[in-house]
Amino acid sequence: MYDLELVRPTSGHKNSADEFKQEFFSCNEKVINGSALLDQLGYDAWLDHITNLRNPETEKNGWVVSDTFFAVRKSDSKIIGIIDIRHNIGDEFLSKYGGHIGYAVRPGERRKGYATQMLKLALEHAKSIGLSRVMLGCYSDNWGSIRTIEKCGGVLTETKPYIDEKPMNIYWIELS
Ligand SMILES: CC(C)(COP(=O)(O)OP(=O)(O)OC[C@H]1O[C@@H](n2cnc3c(N)ncnc32)[C@H](O)[C@@H]1OP(=O)(O)O)[C@@H](O)C(=O)NCCC(=O)NCCS
Repeated sequence: MYDLELVRPTSGHKNSADEFKQEFFSCNEKVINGSALLDQLGYDAWLDHITNLRNPETEKNGWVVSDTFFAVRKSDSKIIGIIDIRHNIGDEFLSKYGGHIGYAVRPGERRKGYATQMLKLALEHAKSIGLSRVMLGCYSDNWGSIRTIEKCGGVLTETKPYIDEKPMNIYWIELS
């Protein structure tokens, strides 16, 4: 039984999404993983961006088609995290480093099992769009993400330098 559900962002999430974003910035986290640029764009522009990204006919910037969801807590509708599921990794960066799925949990809600729930829900979505296996990448010292991926069945296949030369791990999860 999940406390969270993956919800497509709408204009109604504007205030709660701004508050979600500010919590990362207040904790000095300037990058929000798996947010498809929520960390860089205003909410309305971001909503257009992710809406276009969902559809091959409206995606115009050479990004791969992807689905970005808020992970919302059912009991109080609070946005707990964000997760991005790419339909393919037919892009050099994604196939080498980024993989199919990126995610982040807001700082105040970490270590409560939410990333694990989010990834499990995202894997169900990945399966529903026809993926049979997914790749994930994370820094080799990101123990929270490593444990999350392992708990969801991730198998370490490679360790290599990321573009900033820091070591990173590549995992694959079979969905069948
Ligand atoms: C990584 C991140 C998503 C983990 O989220 P979370 O909700 O705290 O994770 P969970 O509560 O589901 O924990 C999953 C496992 O990781 C462990 N864990 C979580 N944070 C950890 C940390 N900082 N150090 C060590 N272990 C950690 C938990 O104990 C749990 O393992 P266990 O069940 O064996 O005890 C979160 O820290 C985050 O958003 N970080 C910034 C963005 C990021 O790194 N995204 C991933 C990019 S690849």
